[in-house]
Amino acid sequence: YVERTLAIIKPDAVHKAEEIEDIILRSGFAILQKRRVHLTPEQASDLYAEHYGKLFFPSLVAYMSSGPIIALVIARLQAITYWRELIGPTNTIKARQTHPDCLRAIYGTDDQRNALHGSDSFPSAQREIRFFFPDSVVEPVATGQ
Ligand code: CMP
Repeated sequence: YVERTLAIIKPDAVHKAEEIEDIILRSGFAILQKRRVHLTPEQASDLYAEHYGKLFFPSLVAYMSSGPIIALVIARLQAITYWRELIGPTNTIKARQTHPDCLRAIYGTDDQRNALHGSDSFPSAQREIRFFFPDSVVEPVATGQ
């Protein structure tokens, strides 16, 4: 199915945004929407509400509000799965050992500052797309069910 997912270029990788967008396009995605935003700590907490209470939550919020980010709605066949495959494991340090070609291995900084985000499921993609693009028309998109 042609799906949409949300990609985020995080503060540590924004200086490489052009290069990353190029890879996104060459990997068969269309970039449907794009927004550069500097989240407040409160907005970053809302975005990552599911991680509230975890040990790394305060530093995650500090990281994600430390500078501008770029939110992108991207689409292709099986976009959710394929984008997560392309960015690779969460931990950049481990990714460099096991998946040296993935985008986090290339653009990430450390175990927390991992350069890129991808929605992990269809409901997350819907929620995260609406978070950044609240006015976006909800197009008919396959649910995969
Ligand atoms: P992301 O895929 O955007 O989803 C949640 C983010 O929290 C993750 O990328 C990392 O930036 C961060 N994160 C997840 N797990 C850890 C962890 N164990 N230690 C530090 N940061 C983490």
